[in-house]
Amino acid sequence: MKAIFPGSFDPLTNGHLDLISRSLTFLDELIIAVMVNPDKKGFLPAQERARLIKTACREKGLTRFRVLTDSGLLADLAKREGCFQVIKGIRNAADLESESAMARANALLLPGLETIFLPAGGETMDISSSLIRQIAAFGGDVSHFVPPCVEKVLKERLHKNNV
Ligand code: PNS
Repeated sequence: MKAIFPGSFDPLTNGHLDLISRSLTFLDELIIAVMVNPDKKGFLPAQERARLIKTACREKGLTRFRVLTDSGLLADLAKREGCFQVIKGIRNAADLESESAMARANALLLPGLETIFLPAGGETMDISSSLIRQIAAFGGDVSHFVPPCVEKVLKERLHKNNV
């Protein structure tokens, strides 16, 4: 079975990585899709987010994943890929509510498209990309929350903005 794991990944966090590696324990292939969330202002360019996902997954020894960027609808991507399973991580009740609405909308757009919810891992359940961007912007240590390649990029960006 293959599935799509869509998200903004702006940037990838250890929470995302945990979901990716857990999904690959029961999937043959995972398509990690960097997509556009119109409610969020972009931080890193999509190609950079995709590069970081590839690097971090390889550094973790993961295989059987593919990373792509797409600026359209998830339902259209799923149809093109012939992939009718979507993986989403759930951290709390608010996530469950918003992700359930999205899952229903996606299933209406593409009948048969199922969304599989995975609970966020205990250690990563409070991590969000926006929290990490904020910690990094104030010069805080993000090494507990993101893989080393992401930490490096955040530090470089911060340095660039300070000079
Ligand atoms: O990491 P995020 O920001 O929670 O991911 C949300 C994302 C990018 C998966 C969602 O906004 C999305 O699916 N965007 C693609 C456009 C789309 O299909 N929107 C309708 C969803 S019902």
